[in-house]
Amino acid sequence: MDNWKDIWSRTRHLPNEDPDLQFLIDTDGFNSGAGKISEEAWSTYVRHAASLMNIQPDESLFEVGCGSGAFLYPFYKNGHQVSGIDYSPSLIEIASFVMPEMDFSILEATQVDPTRRFDIVLANSVFQYFPSLEYAEEVLRLMWEKTNRLLVLLDLNDIQFAEEALRIRKGSLSLGEYEKKYAGLEHLFYDRNFAEKALKGKRFTINISNQQIKSYGNNKFRYNVVIEKW
Ligand SMILES: C[S@@+](CC[C@H](N)C(=O)[O-])C[C@H]1O[C@@H](n2cnc3c(N)ncnc32)[C@H](O)[C@@H]1O
Repeated sequence: MDNWKDIWSRTRHLPNEDPDLQFLIDTDGFNSGAGKISEEAWSTYVRHAASLMNIQPDESLFEVGCGSGAFLYPFYKNGHQVSGIDYSPSLIEIASFVMPEMDFSILEATQVDPTRRFDIVLANSVFQYFPSLEYAEEVLRLMWEKTNRLLVLLDLNDIQFAEEALRIRKGSLSLGEYEKKYAGLEHLFYDRNFAEKALKGKRFTINISNQQIKSYGNNKFRYNVVIEKW
C-alpha cells in the first residue's frame, strides 16, 4: 500500500494568503466521487465532531495524518492550539502556511512523539491508508500515550461493508483494469471492536457512532470512535 504515500505527496500549490476552507477540503482529497464534501457539509460535520468530543475552549488538538489541515483549521480559527503530523511534505507545507503559529511536522504516523501531550489526539479519515492492522494498533497505542483526555478516530472504514465498498469502487472495471488502476492502493477496513481490543487492559469509556456527513457517499461504510481516558 506504499503507493498512497506517493499520491498524498504530489506537488501542490500554496493557497492565497487567506485560504477558504473548501481549498483545504479539496486538497485533503474530499473532492471527487463518493468522497466529495462541500464546505457547508464539512463545517456542520466539524461542529458535530466538536460536540461528540465535548471540546472545551482551552483544549488543544493534535492530529495524526492532518494533511493540509482541513479538519484542524476551524478549531484553529476558534482559538484552539492545534498541531499535527503527516507523511506528505506538500500537505504539511500548506498546513504550516495557513496556520503559521502552529507546529506541523513531516512524519509517519508511527513516529508520533508520545511525550508531548495534547488534550485531544485524533485522526480524521486516515486509518484506511495504513499498511496493516499491526501498524494501526501501534499508532493507536502512541495516540493513547499522547492524549490527556480523548483519543478520537473519525471516518473509519467499517469491515462489515468491505465487500460492498469494494464493489462500488470497482464499478464497471474488469478485474484486470481494476488491478491496474488500484494496484497498491487498497483500503484497510476495521472491526468495530478494533480500538477496544487494541487498548485492552487500559481504562476508558468508548463511544462508537455512525458517520453522518451531508451528501457524503461513504457515510454507510464509515464510523466514528471517541475514547475517553479515565
Ligand atoms: C483523506 S486525507 C485526510 C486529511 C485530514 N485528516 C483531514 O481530515 O482533512 C488522509 C491523510 O492521511 C495521511 N496519511 C495516510 N497514511 C499516513 C501515514 N502512514 N503516516 C502519516 N500520514 C498518513 C495522508 O498523507 C493524508 O494527508
